[in-house]
Amino acid sequence: MYNFKTIGEIDLTGKRVLVRADLNVPMKDGRVADMTRINRLMPTLRDLIANRARVIIMSHFGRPEGKYLPEMTLRPVAKVLSQALGYDVSFAGDCIGEVAVKAVARLQPGNILLLENLRYHAGEENNDPEFVKKLAALSDVYVNDGFSVAHRSHASTVGIAHILPAFAGRQMQAELEALGAVLDNPMPKVVAIIGGSKISTKLELLDSLVQKVDILMIGGGMANTFLNAQGVNVGKSLCEKNLAEIARGILEKANLVKCEIILPIDALVSTELEKEVRASVCDIKAVPANSMILDIGPATVGLLESKLAKCKTLIWNGPLGAFEIKPFDSGTNALSEVVANLTSAGDLVSVAGGGDTVSALNNAGVFDKLTYVSTAGGAFLEWLEGKELPGVKVLMGQTN
Ligand code: 3PG
Repeated sequence: MYNFKTIGEIDLTGKRVLVRADLNVPMKDGRVADMTRINRLMPTLRDLIANRARVIIMSHFGRPEGKYLPEMTLRPVAKVLSQALGYDVSFAGDCIGEVAVKAVARLQPGNILLLENLRYHAGEENNDPEFVKKLAALSDVYVNDGFSVAHRSHASTVGIAHILPAFAGRQMQAELEALGAVLDNPMPKVVAIIGGSKISTKLELLDSLVQKVDILMIGGGMANTFLNAQGVNVGKSLCEKNLAEIARGILEKANLVKCEIILPIDALVSTELEKEVRASVCDIKAVPANSMILDIGPATVGLLESKLAKCKTLIWNGPLGAFEIKPFDSGTNALSEVVANLTSAGDLVSVAGGGDTVSALNNAGVFDKLTYVSTAGGAFLEWLEGKELPGVKVLMGQTN
């Protein structure tokens, strides 16, 4: 298992603790539109307050590329953090320099400060040693609680962990334990459900998963590329025809390593992708030439259900249809229900992740019913691909 140190292993009383959070949260009209990442940060913040630490939170927001862009300020997030915690969270208008130093100096044990967007400084993404030094000067201890940004080799995720004693926060720990349970030593059989629109963005993922799982279910737009590669007419559906050869290669590889690939056997189709549009179910081999496949059909849901019933571990990334538009959320919703029921009955360990996946599970009302749902997007995918995440690697084997 992992040999990182956690915040429970050190006396933090009175210490300045710099927490790397991922507050890159969805915003709408200047307000936080989804609280999941903020809520997930609460256990670490509560622990640190209870231990009378002086807490300094740092995060990026958006991609300002080293420039000050007012629409990417973290200032409104300080208020939201205060409300979620029930403690005052102060805000420093810069993450380094005099403004930050003075704000940190004002902190009393148990106080919390949020620093301005790290990516206003180019040194963050460049992992610039001078920038790292300035960040490190603010603190005695470093805590990384941002798994979702651990795939970035930046000053606040990697550089600083080489200078300060480094610990994993509660969320980082939960994330690594949940993800480790499904890939490092999973209970067989292991099934992966991979959806989303394009295989071009998930080639490495598919290639890696066929070697790791017993069953790979492919849905969403990306299934069309596989169906087309097998000679199935997908009408006007989203389809990467130029990747037919690659899709066939993945199917052949799966066959060689005895990974069972499941593609849709029926579909919900329509001529338009619009709300409440007329849609009909058809066999996958009978998609009308003027129609698009927009969701999996009930026979496919039934097939997936029967396969899931034989599995003990599930990894899920990507919706199975155009779930943002009704009725094309039906397949994803029905399967979500199946997964939630198997998980509640103790028959399945289910771990899902990725931005769209989180929205789809919320839409289906089962977000809290899976074993674990990761809010990470790119980091979740890279981890599934078997890549080493720099922000995780640097936490391992620290002897501070
Ligand atoms: C995310 O939302 O996936 C993380 O915050 C990483 O953001 P980035 O892709 O801009 O590095």
